[in-house]
Amino acid sequence: MTECNPLHAAHYPDQARCTTVPIVENGPLARDTHRVRIQCPEIARTLVPGQFVMMRLAGFNDPLIGRALAVYDTFPDAVSQPAGIDVVYMVKGKFTHRLAECRPGQLLDVWGPLGNGFEAKAVDHLILVAGGIGQTPFVTVAQEALGHRQYGTPPRSNARCGRVTLCYGARSADMLAGVGDFEQLGVDVQLATEDGSRGHRGLVTDVLAGVLRGSHGSRRILCCGPERMMQAVAGVAAQHETPCEVSLESPMACGIGICFSCVVKLDDGQGGWDYRRTCVEGPVFDAAKIRW
Ligand SMILES: Cc1cc2nc3c(=O)[nH]c(=O)nc-3n(C[C@H](O)[C@H](O)[C@H](O)COP(=O)(O)OP(=O)(O)OC[C@H]3O[C@@H](n4cnc5c(N)ncnc54)[C@H](O)[C@@H]3O)c2cc1C
Ligand code: FES
Repeated sequence: MTECNPLHAAHYPDQARCTTVPIVENGPLARDTHRVRIQCPEIARTLVPGQFVMMRLAGFNDPLIGRALAVYDTFPDAVSQPAGIDVVYMVKGKFTHRLAECRPGQLLDVWGPLGNGFEAKAVDHLILVAGGIGQTPFVTVAQEALGHRQYGTPPRSNARCGRVTLCYGARSADMLAGVGDFEQLGVDVQLATEDGSRGHRGLVTDVLAGVLRGSHGSRRILCCGPERMMQAVAGVAAQHETPCEVSLESPMACGIGICFSCVVKLDDGQGGWDYRRTCVEGPVFDAAKIRW
C-alpha cells in the first residue's frame, strides 16, 4: 500500500501559489459588503469549493499580516478557462476598510488556494447554512452540487445533489449579499433577518429547523458564520441526526501552517482533544468533533 504523507495532501500549501496580482473590479454588493475581482489564473484553475486565499495590500506594511478570505467564485477568460477569482468581504477593520478604497489596477499579494475545502458528496438534499458574511464559500459549492460547474485540476467528479437549500441569516435585509447569485443557480433560498425586514424574523437556526422537518432522503449540512451560530447549527443538526460540517473563520496570521495562531480544539477520538490548525487541517471540520 502506498504511504500517503498527510503533509503533502492535495490541499496543503506546498500546492499553493503566492502571487502579486491586479484588482480587476472592486465595488459594493450590499451594506458594508463589497466584491473584489482579481486576476490570478493559477489559483482559479486549481481551487475547489470551500478553499480560501490569504491577501495583503502589495507594497504596504499596514496591516502587516494577511487576511484569510473565502473564494466566492472563479470567473472565465475569453476561451472559458478560469482567469481569476471573486472575493466578497464585509468592511470590518483595518484590512477591509483599506481594500474597499482600492481601485482597479492596484496590486494585492495573494497566496492560495488554501485549506481543505468541502468534499464533493452526492446527497438528496444539501443544506447550506450561512450567517453574517458566511455565505461566501457556498456559491462554488452550489455551482458544483447543481452540476453547473466543475472545479480543480483535474476537474473533480461532479457529485450532483437532488436539491440545494441555502438558509441565510443577517441583521437586516440590506446586509444580505449575493442572494440573487444563489437564486440564479437554482438554489432554494430561505432568509432570516433579526429585524424582520426580509424573510423570517429571527434566527437562521429557526429556518434550518423548518427546512429539516420538510426534508427527505439523505442530507448533509454545511455551515459558515459566527462561531456561536455555527455551534447552534451543530446542535440542531445533531437533534435531527444530520451530518454537519462547519467552515471556521478563526483569525489567521500565515495561512500555511507555520504560526499556530489559528488552532481549534478537536476531539481526538480517544476521549480527549487536541489542537488542529484551521488553515491546513480545516477550515472545514466535522461539527460533531469540535470542542466549542
Ligand atoms: C478561512 C476564512 C475565510 C474567511 N472568509 C471571509 C470572507 O469571505 N469574507 C470576509 O469578509 N471575511 C472572511 N474571513 C474573515 C477575514 O479573515 C477577516 O478577519 C475580516 O475580513 C476582518 O479583517 P479586517 O482587517 O478588516 O479587521 P481587523 O482589523 O482584523 O478586525 C476587526 C474586528 O474583527 C475582529 N476579528 C478579526 N478577525 C476575526 C475573525 N476571523 N472572526 C471574528 N472576529 C474577527 C477583531 O477582533 C476586531 O474586533 C475569513 C476568515 C477565515 C479564517
Ligand atoms: S494561520 Fe498560521 S498556522 Fe494557521
